[in-house]
Amino acid sequence: MRIVLLGAPGAGKGTIAKLLSIFDGSVQISTGDILRNAVKAKTKLGNEAQGYMERGELVPDSLIMDIMGARLQEPDCKKGFILDGFPRTIPQADALKGLLKKLNLTLDLVVNLDVPREVILDRLTTRRTCSNPSCQEIYNIKSKPPTPDGKCKKCGWKVVQRDDETEEAIGNRLVTYNEKTAPLIDYYQKEGSLKSISSTSSEEIVAGIAKAIKK
Ligand code: AP5
Repeated sequence: MRIVLLGAPGAGKGTIAKLLSIFDGSVQISTGDILRNAVKAKTKLGNEAQGYMERGELVPDSLIMDIMGARLQEPDCKKGFILDGFPRTIPQADALKGLLKKLNLTLDLVVNLDVPREVILDRLTTRRTCSNPSCQEIYNIKSKPPTPDGKCKKCGWKVVQRDDETEEAIGNRLVTYNEKTAPLIDYYQKEGSLKSISSTSSEEIVAGIAKAIKK
């Protein structure tokens, strides 16, 4: 499948992308994970992105398009891809359209994960993430805790709270989402490729996506 997952911070894009990739082997591409790995590795990209991310702002479109232009042409994308956190602005969506046209590919579906604000706020303050760059399993201290000593159940690395999970950064991320990313719902609605799913159950969301793709 080739799909885009839209949704506010904490809506569950990463969680759903991981479940979908197990389902049919499509590769999860999270621009957030790519950027966090670059920050950890102190690459040029990471150094440029770090300040924006810590403040809860978007990284400039040009940096993101450089990453995605190359990433979507890697061999593993032939099996399909789940875009988690990209596109996030109208210029990114326009650029993605051009890129897919050049690669002779089409999207199967754009999914908007619609989750109430109070659920999102609760999830963002209780989320924890595996610190192993090649694992990045997502945990939640309430609904999906790591081991009692704070380790990842998959790889044994330490499970940590992200740098952009301060109260101030979370507030900025939600404002940025409303200003820059929410307009994409209308954008894809007009293109006829949008499926909005209002649910807080991962099973229900995955089933809804599978059903919409089969249509
Ligand atoms: P990114 O990593 O994409 O962050 P985000 O969009 O803010 O999304 P999150 O990762 O916070 O949440 P999610 O929707 O994936 O939810 P999750 O599955 O983790 O981006 C980070 C930063 O990078 C941005 O702020 C920006 O600076 C930069 N960036 C990235 N892409 C960019 C782009 N394209 N352009 C410009 N800048 C970009 O779930 C959250 C929690 O809820 C977890 O604890 C999980 O266990 C729990 N949960 C999920 N589903 C359920 C459920 N059904 N039931 C119970 N708990 C659940």
